[in-house]
Amino acid sequence: MQKTVRRPKRLRGDLTPPGDKSISHRAAIFNAIADGEARIENYGSGADLASTLRVLRGLGARIERHNDGAFTIHGGALAEPQDTLNAGNSGTTTRLMAGVLAGQPFLSVLTGDRSIRSRPMARIVEPLRLMGAQVDGRDGGRLAPLAFRGGALRGVRYRMPVASAQVKSALLLAGLFAEGETILDQPAVSRDHTELMFRAMGVPVVEDGLTARVSPGRLTAMDVRVPADISSAAYWLVAGVCHPDAEARARNVGVNPTRTGILDALAMMGADVRVENRREEGGEPVADLVARSSALRAVEIGGDLIPRLVDEVPVIALAACFAEGTTVIRDAAELRVKESDRLTATRVELSRLGAQVEELDDGLRITGGRKLRGAAHKTYGDHRIAMTAGVAGLLAEGETTIRAAETAAVSYPTFWDDLASLGEA
Ligand code: S3P
Repeated sequence: MQKTVRRPKRLRGDLTPPGDKSISHRAAIFNAIADGEARIENYGSGADLASTLRVLRGLGARIERHNDGAFTIHGGALAEPQDTLNAGNSGTTTRLMAGVLAGQPFLSVLTGDRSIRSRPMARIVEPLRLMGAQVDGRDGGRLAPLAFRGGALRGVRYRMPVASAQVKSALLLAGLFAEGETILDQPAVSRDHTELMFRAMGVPVVEDGLTARVSPGRLTAMDVRVPADISSAAYWLVAGVCHPDAEARARNVGVNPTRTGILDALAMMGADVRVENRREEGGEPVADLVARSSALRAVEIGGDLIPRLVDEVPVIALAACFAEGTTVIRDAAELRVKESDRLTATRVELSRLGAQVEELDDGLRITGGRKLRGAAHKTYGDHRIAMTAGVAGLLAEGETTIRAAETAAVSYPTFWDDLASLGEA
């Protein structure tokens, strides 16, 4: 599917992006292994979240969808799957389920699409093996498919080399099934939805600075109402601040501080983004976000800020094209091992528009102020590159086309409809 996007004269929007992907994955997985049953409302609509339900069903979990879109998940023991488990394009499904499967008393094989089968798995396989798990995979366990032959796990103290919430969550999940305490030392703070949800489900995760500890235990089922995804709202925020006549509102957005790096980065750039109607829902902070046309200035983004905006780097790079001066993004080498190499993809696609972008080993250098002209974009099978290209089309002169635009559905199936609703010619 190819999409064509033109810059509207005026951009006005009032949108509610789909349910948060990270919180939805956790709500489904944690409730599937919990005691009791839970109702999940506003479970995210993307293909990655369907992958998590498919994998859980393959393990015998009973999951019902109701007419109002909510799900009931019946928790309990998982069963040996009759077939391989397919995580599709979803890294979160793969990594989190690896933590669960390592602790189950049966054989399971977890795989995914071509992208998943090329993404690094040693980051979970190595610590799971230290915990006593029997895990194998291609290339000595560095690549999926991964095979788990469950056994007794023991808690370990582990120094995580990357600030990854997926790795942290996999090990906290394995820790539930281990003997003794599991202690994780992280290099920086990453999203803490697992810690919050474990606590709310009756398993205390003790945090002390960058150290998190969990003891074995059983989760108690908990109803979850999932807030809208700030990583999806990010596209409309950038559209709103970069377009010369814009006001874009995103409602009910999760604003957990471990996820709001995009708000900090845009504030540093001088953007007019307001956080309104702040409240708390199910232990997660929620707000409405309003972005208006702004004069932006270049910034330096790196260090501890990166894990707090890791999925937003491509669209922040697009915003940097509209900022005065040279924006430097560093410490973001992790982007090379996401759904695509997002540093190269972002550099190539923004350059097609006439932007001045240089690729660094661990980031990007973008000099703003050049006029962007519509171009023909590729998506690299990566939803965030597809959506960044779509927003570029709202901002560039002339016509922008995006090939394989359906890739957006991995996290945001209604992205192109929402984008079309923003324009006033
Ligand atoms: C996620 C963590 C991040 C992020 C991904 C979702 C999660 O990955 O990129 O989209 O839900 O835990 P890493 O923690 O591996 O950086």
